[in-house]
Amino acid sequence: MVEPLFSLKGKLALVTGAGRGLGLAMATSLARAGAEVLLNGRDEARLAPAITALEKRGLAAAPLVFDVADAAAVARAFAAIEREHGRLDILLSNVGLRNRRVIDQLSVADMREMLEVNLIAPFGLAKAAAALMLPRRRGRIIMVTSIAGPLSRAGDAAYTAAKGGLAALTRSLAAEYGPHGITANAIAPGFFATETNADRVADAQVQAFVEMRVPLRRWGQPQELGGAAVFLASDEASYVNGHVLTVDGGMSSSF
Ligand SMILES: NC(=O)c1ccc[n+]([C@@H]2O[C@H](COP(=O)([O-])OP(=O)(O)OC[C@H]3O[C@@H](n4cnc5c(N)ncnc54)[C@H](OP(=O)(O)O)[C@@H]3O)[C@@H](O)[C@H]2O)c1
Repeated sequence: MVEPLFSLKGKLALVTGAGRGLGLAMATSLARAGAEVLLNGRDEARLAPAITALEKRGLAAAPLVFDVADAAAVARAFAAIEREHGRLDILLSNVGLRNRRVIDQLSVADMREMLEVNLIAPFGLAKAAAALMLPRRRGRIIMVTSIAGPLSRAGDAAYTAAKGGLAALTRSLAAEYGPHGITANAIAPGFFATETNADRVADAQVQAFVEMRVPLRRWGQPQELGGAAVFLASDEASYVNGHVLTVDGGMSSSF
């Protein structure tokens, strides 16, 4: 009998920063695989079109409004998940902040803000998610890092440091939570054509760079991250732990 290999039927997932861009694309893929998905963002009105789009396709989605950098709001959100669902199967921590400045123009305060959103917030989310996963001895924590981290570039120090730290944190989560049945992995996207990157996608110089550096000769489309998210969230990835899955059209493996 033919059956879908990567079904997420019966699973509850939280995707942060899911109102648009890569978060929405990955949330949609999780829902298409059968998960009920809580879409997070800071503004319910901005989340509404995403919820409507998923519901129109017959997919299970609900908003969960909080700022990932607000620890008290995160605690309230996870209390609500526990109260209303009694469990969480999948955390996909997707929110990321970028501040493209050269080091001379990057203040210590800028660096702190970047670490707060890109590293400390995912740490708090992982702890809160694990607290719901530990009693059931199962769960999937998926971080969104970047090819910036293992690779560096002038004018991107804060983002690169934070994302590199997030990959290291992912490995630590894998080591600590693995014995309790929870896996922690990360997805590292390359150049993806999101709304936030619209200016760069339209920039001829960036386009030429992408065509030169990416073996597939093009930007990634957000939905091309969906398979990686579904795989890492699925039961089929039960022995994949502490891995950073790069999805970059081959850019970081070639020069
Ligand atoms: N796009 C790329 O090419 C690329 C490449 C490598 C890595 N990444 C990583 O992939 C992730 C997603 O990137 P993206 O380009 O899709 O991002 P994006 O377009 O900027 O989307 C960000 C989403 O997150 C929400 N958000 C922002 N700050 C938040 C906060 N503090 N709390 C809760 N929600 C928040 C925003 O909604 P509201 O403003 O309504 O809250 C929005 O829906 C990031 O971690 C990024 O670093 C992206």
